Amino acid sequence: MEPTVHLSQDQIDFYHQKGYLELESISTPEEILWMQGIYDSLFTAKTGREEGNQFDLGGTDEEGTEAVLPQILNPTKYAPELKDGLFRVNAASIARQLLGAEAKWGGDHAIFKPARIGAATPWHQDEAYWNPMMEYSSFSLWLPLQPATLDNGCMQFIPNSQLLEVLPHHCINNDPRIHGLEVDFADVSSAVACPLPAGGCTIHHNRTLHYAGPNLSNIPRRALILGFGVPATERALRRAFPWNDLKQTPREARAKASAS
Ligand code: NI
Repeated sequence: MEPTVHLSQDQIDFYHQKGYLELESISTPEEILWMQGIYDSLFTAKTGREEGNQFDLGGTDEEGTEAVLPQILNPTKYAPELKDGLFRVNAASIARQLLGAEAKWGGDHAIFKPARIGAATPWHQDEAYWNPMMEYSSFSLWLPLQPATLDNGCMQFIPNSQLLEVLPHHCINNDPRIHGLEVDFADVSSAVACPLPAGGCTIHHNRTLHYAGPNLSNIPRRALILGFGVPATERALRRAFPWNDLKQTPREARAKASAS
């Protein structure tokens, strides 16, 4: 399959200057419908939960509680057919254009915002979740499987924030049982919201500050997130992300129990 999306020099420059980019379409309506079916069945069946790969990103995630921000890590492990398709061919091509020939797929996740109760994803930098010993050059490609609107939780970005260091973060509500992170402080007065059609996408750098609002609408908000990067290298300068060391999540407990 050949890619159908080729970035213009203006788009490439915009990404490198602002730290994010929005694209109208990297997929087809048929492909989006196909993905919706797979996506919904993974969430409905709680696929990956026992292994700690499905959990509530925005809540305490105890058994029997309703998730406000369900997430699946590595959905292609459970639905390998998601490794194929035009959206992925396009995403890989975009990665080579933005990051160079070395750019490789680094994994996916899926974040679901249930109708009416889906919680906000607080302002954060993705790198705050990762290994502080490593240096990254990567992006996340965020693909909505229905229109993404301000009302249902489209992505928002702080332009140029990719130039910041990783800022201090904390678990949502300062609750170490919650996996999701929130930046301690950031000036978000310049935030840009990016509503999108189904099958469009946004792309953001690993340090770009981003946010998605709650789902106030009557339809579920589904997003698949594809990670691409050049191989991470060990950092010369040491740093620590103490917010991750403090975490004690049910997700992690399930992952440990299932591995032993
Ligand atoms: Ni993020």
